[in-house]
Amino acid sequence: MIIKELHLLNYKNIPEAHLHFADRLNGFVGLNGQGKTNVLDAIYLLSFTKSAFSLQDRDCIRHGEQMAMVQGVYEKDGESLTITCGLRQGGKKQFRKGDKNYQRLSDHIGLLPLVLISPQDIGIILDGSDIRRKFIDSTISQYDPTYLPALTNYNQLLQQRNSLLKQLADKDATAAFDDMLVVYEQQMQPLALQIFEARRLFVSQFVPFFIDTYTILSNGGENVRLSYQSQFFDRSLPDAWQQTRQRDLILGWTSVGCHKDDLLFSIGGYAVKQVASQGQIKTCLLALRLSQALFLSNQTGLPPFLLLDDIFDRLDSHRVKQLIEMVTSETIELPTAQTVLHSPFSQIFLTDTDIHHLHRWDSSFAAMKTFVVNGGIITEDNQ
Ligand SMILES: Nc1ncnc2c1ncn2[C@@H]1O[C@H](COP(=O)(O)OP(=O)(O)O)[C@@H](O)[C@H]1O
Ligand SMILES: [Mg+2]
Repeated sequence: MIIKELHLLNYKNIPEAHLHFADRLNGFVGLNGQGKTNVLDAIYLLSFTKSAFSLQDRDCIRHGEQMAMVQGVYEKDGESLTITCGLRQGGKKQFRKGDKNYQRLSDHIGLLPLVLISPQDIGIILDGSDIRRKFIDSTISQYDPTYLPALTNYNQLLQQRNSLLKQLADKDATAAFDDMLVVYEQQMQPLALQIFEARRLFVSQFVPFFIDTYTILSNGGENVRLSYQSQFFDRSLPDAWQQTRQRDLILGWTSVGCHKDDLLFSIGGYAVKQVASQGQIKTCLLALRLSQALFLSNQTGLPPFLLLDDIFDRLDSHRVKQLIEMVTSETIELPTAQTVLHSPFSQIFLTDTDIHHLHRWDSSFAAMKTFVVNGGIITEDNQ
């Protein structure tokens, strides 16, 4: 799968752009604040139906404008596929495959696998657990079409249970209230089980990819681990909510469930969050995202698009070298995962403030196409 063309109208600071991409590698160069990340974000939006960075769709519409449009023309096995997203102030988002609107946006996820590596993403290692659950969820939903609907459903029921708990928090809990909670719990239970099993299986399959990638990037030697943490390892369904119901009534929210899951990174037996150096944290982030791409490629047979946002000026030259070697090699051997992957990355889009960094890439790639981004105006660099 290749993106042949990208058409933008009023997307963030980009008034209009019509870009024709190279099949393998495309680079966006420009000073800070010019719109490089916004272009990558538009490509991200075509895969995930929403921005990677803006929580609200309306924040993606250029200030002062009423609507925005992002359109990608993809090509697979000689066939062309057009994906269009239209955003309107105060209106509903339109998302189209060809000339057909999606009824459910979640049906689109997985069609165009993509991995974004961005320094803004460092929170995935350092911040709270919700961002790591998002990582798990967005990976699984790219290969398991039943996962996202189950998760959405679970989250809706969880919200309903929470608002009931909140209403009841002041009052004395009676058996009648218990009955109402039980109704939610009974509906949540099979969903929670499905989510738990999917996450457990995912992490067990994914960890070898992560370890191998980390080992390649760091030249081995560090004993890195990744593990799935869930309350459902200690408390089995369906009793979990029954056991904690009294406590939840006092708290006013649901204290046990899939919404508390986490991933734990450790090096040499210690949590990365607590003891790792800046360099180790960066390597962890890079390894996590690259191994996500490798894993998805292996899982789906569809090599994902790779978006590399400003990562070259933040890494030491050794890691840049390892990274370049990895994303350009035809085959990657993963001993722990016991897999050899052939051309696991699809088209690559990267950004940098410095053209010289990109020229270093140029020696690895025969045909890199460079675009200059300046104040939201994107032009092909023909030099
Ligand atoms: N909805 C919007 N309308 C207009 N400008 C926007 C909008 N959202 C973000 N921007 C602008 O986009 C610029 C940042 O672009 P970005 O792609 O992050 O730059 P960089 O080239 O550094 O990656 C900022 O100047 C920001 O104000
Ligand atoms: Mg940027």
